[in-house]
Amino acid sequence: MATRARPATDWLWWVALGLLIAPGLSLVLRLAGGGLGARPLHSALRATGDWALWLVLLTLAVSPARVLLRWPWVVGLRRALGVAAAAYATLHLLLYCQDENWHLGFIASEITLRFYLSIGTLALLMLLALAATSTNASQRRLGRNWKRLHALVFPALLLSLWHDFLEAKADISAVVLLAGFSCWLLAWRLLPAGRRERTVVLVTLGVLSGLAAALSEAGWYWIAVGVPPQRVLATDLSFAFGPRPAAVVALAGLAAALAAAVRRLLRRPG
Ligand code: HEM
Repeated sequence: MATRARPATDWLWWVALGLLIAPGLSLVLRLAGGGLGARPLHSALRATGDWALWLVLLTLAVSPARVLLRWPWVVGLRRALGVAAAAYATLHLLLYCQDENWHLGFIASEITLRFYLSIGTLALLMLLALAATSTNASQRRLGRNWKRLHALVFPALLLSLWHDFLEAKADISAVVLLAGFSCWLLAWRLLPAGRRERTVVLVTLGVLSGLAAALSEAGWYWIAVGVPPQRVLATDLSFAFGPRPAAVVALAGLAAALAAAVRRLLRRPG
């Protein structure tokens, strides 16, 4: 049966819509007004890529927020988040085409020959398929196959992360953060339904996701730059450069465990 896509309060939906459109609008205005630095198109390309990926993550965060915080209304925002992710990814592609002066033959050859662009394109096609079939009518028409089709969000996320890791040059903090959060969100879904809310399970998940983020960072520096992994891992234990992405992921996981525990206590009768 189709799930209700609208949140309980219409005003919330409009606020969410405004928040989703605002960064795109601000980007277009800054692009037009010359406020995006020396390589404005390139900056806009990067910003839209980041937004698309964060929105895919937020779409996946809806289920844990509903279960752990007991926020049933967030389900109504899922469709808007998913469609916005596809829209920002499309804008990202359009900016790439503009950056290449719409030389479509060259763009097609780049997409076929450069692996990071090929997998980015595949991820975009998946996001577009999800957005196009996100309506209630599609849910009804596709029946049980709708859920199967929408499981494409997982390969789309993994391909987008891979795309981001492959194009990253020197500072990979942002993609490591995204990888750690993705790890938490994917692992949480694999947990048996009865264990997903247990504090000990959530604390372990937070710590392991932080560890996964640390390992992905060390692995990238080792493979791409040849820096020994132990040197990168050692920086995770030092706060000299501020909190490292792995620590942020672990702390966010612990915060989720704490929030879920408080929510459970508040609901306990008497
Ligand atoms: C047709 C598909 C795509 C093309 C042609 C494309 C192209 C690019 C290019 C050229 C870059 C910048 C590389 C550089 O800095 O030199 C980039 C970065 C990026 N892309 Fe894509 N991309 C595509 C799809 C996607 C999708 C579907 C996502 C996410 C959902 C995504 C997320 C990102 C992210 C996060 C970055 C890095 C931004 C940053 O460094 O701050 N891309 N992409």
